[in-house]
Amino acid sequence: MRIDILTVLPELLEGPFSHSILKRAQEKNLAEIHIHNIRDYSKDKHKKVDDYQYGGGAGMVMTIQPIADCIDALKAARNYDEIIYMTPDGELFEQNTANQLSSYENLIILCGHYKGVDERVRELYITKEISIGSYVLTGGELAAAVVADAVIRLIPGVLNDETSALSDSFQDDLLSPPVYTRPADYKGLKVPEVLLSGDFKKIDEYRETEAYRRTEERRPDLLK
Ligand code: 6GU
Repeated sequence: MRIDILTVLPELLEGPFSHSILKRAQEKNLAEIHIHNIRDYSKDKHKKVDDYQYGGGAGMVMTIQPIADCIDALKAARNYDEIIYMTPDGELFEQNTANQLSSYENLIILCGHYKGVDERVRELYITKEISIGSYVLTGGELAAAVVADAVIRLIPGVLNDETSALSDSFQDDLLSPPVYTRPADYKGLKVPEVLLSGDFKKIDEYRETEAYRRTEERRPDLLK
């Protein structure tokens, strides 16, 4: 999978893809991340990427020209499955969306900034609009990193133990059961006996029961 991310703050996106699992996914050629600085495409003599909004009002709007030129250049090189715009008024990002996106070859993710992009960018280019939650961030970059992380870890071969993505919280609309590691007794707080029993049928039953208990308690909406 190839992901092209368009941003006015490329520095903000370098960190998340340079470590651990996302770094290894790229080294194994399972994922390619290309970060594009929208400013590099500006034809303005001062490399401007934003302007005042028509009709007045506070806050700048990202102009269409540099974004359109960047997307046009990418589209001329390959076909994209989705061109995603990260925006607080997009559809709420959930595991299902991550699952679907992880099956694609090529994605563009446009990060919104300031008051957002000129509406005509959305009309002309964007095929999907995503928000990561009901709160406002300073820009779409951290949200884009969240989406890319959730998607890349689902690509076969990215996680060492592929079953571990299948047993994620949310993958079957259940939260994960509690987990423990050594020591078996920490200052009198003991690991549930069943997990030490070696009886894998009982252990599976325990985990399923706990997953339901936890979901009922914390996210009853998932059981509806
Ligand atoms: Cl995608 N962008 C911004 N700026 N804020 C957000 C968001 C996106 N998703 C939730 N809040």
